[in-house]
Amino acid sequence: MSVTQTDTMEELIKKGFEFFDKHFPGGKKPDKMGVGPGRVNLIGEHTDYNEGYVLPMALPMVTIMLGRTNDTDTCRVVTASSDIDCAKESNYAEFKIPSIKPLSVGVPKWANYVKGVIACFQSIVVGFDAVILSSVPLGGGLSSSASLEVATYSFIEAITGNKTTQLVKKVMVCQNAEHMFAGVPCGIMDQFISVMGVDGHALLIDCKTLQHELVPFTDTNYLFLITNSNIHHELSDGQYQLRRFQCEEASDLLNVTSLRSATLDNLNRARDEGKINLVIYKRAKHVITEIERTKTAANVLSQGDYKKFGELMNESHNSLRDDFEVSCRELDQLVELARKVPGVLGSRMTGGGFGGCTITLVERNIVDLVVDIINSEYKQDPKFYVVSPSCGAKIFTSL
Ligand code: GLA
Repeated sequence: MSVTQTDTMEELIKKGFEFFDKHFPGGKKPDKMGVGPGRVNLIGEHTDYNEGYVLPMALPMVTIMLGRTNDTDTCRVVTASSDIDCAKESNYAEFKIPSIKPLSVGVPKWANYVKGVIACFQSIVVGFDAVILSSVPLGGGLSSSASLEVATYSFIEAITGNKTTQLVKKVMVCQNAEHMFAGVPCGIMDQFISVMGVDGHALLIDCKTLQHELVPFTDTNYLFLITNSNIHHELSDGQYQLRRFQCEEASDLLNVTSLRSATLDNLNRARDEGKINLVIYKRAKHVITEIERTKTAANVLSQGDYKKFGELMNESHNSLRDDFEVSCRELDQLVELARKVPGVLGSRMTGGGFGGCTITLVERNIVDLVVDIINSEYKQDPKFYVVSPSCGAKIFTSL
């Protein structure tokens, strides 16, 4: 048993042409494409909506939207995702362009991400036929939804010829689509890295100013291993919103605009004066310490201090488990198993939590051993991906 190989972009494109031909017969071939990668966050969890720092990287796993204009006022989209249960939900969606009929949330659910981006796009959209293919595991906490939004936006840029010069605007439209059409009050990290990722680099994003800095990760002696727990606890959506409310409550109590401006000293004083209850105290403590950890982590990574970086990853997980309380038994088990193996520098849950994936920094020559150990102890059919930092969104105006 070893790491899972996912389709490369070239393989997805090849399958995409066949899939298009099957669903839109008539001989016209796709001539435009948008690509959006998934992401993994190295450190800086639940800090983006607190105006803090995050340090994600774009993944080699991508979503592509491939198609062409169809000279009508109708958009016709079909997804090849094998994760869609076709007995419950169609893999095909058809809707009028927004200048004919305003778009609204509906079924199939996956199409809401596409509609959301089209509804928020900067100019008039034209009718098109398109297929969607993805190598980002769905619902695994690797931002399959952000990758779909960014692929859609990039495809619309390709067919309209209206390319966004300010990339931050593209990020915000995709985030807005998720808020309005998927009802998920996410922060800005996922869409930001999916648009802005650069090969060989993680990205330190200041979610207050939206300034960002590349942090190289090129040492071939180490690599990042993603382990998918194969667990998705349904309570996660409500819990994400609840954490946001708790952080807002903490900033109100501390009299700051966001937890970015709070310090541990303020927080401890508020606790000692009986102004803050234990739950809100713990939530704020995680965010305040995680923002500091993330800044330090970016610094040590750029200096090649992987040992220290791994320690910070471990601290981040412990804080998410004990103070922010968004881990779960399965993620804790995966992290514990990995940490026991000599040559593992650090391991933590990544993303929103309550399931999804862990990210582990390992010495290259022991990765198979880590995979074997986890496989023999963890019983929920884990999946493993060795990933290197990859590039962000791409627009293809000819194929
Ligand atoms: C989800 C959200 C992000 C971020 C993470 C937690 O992935 O989409 O904006 O808040 O959770 O760090």
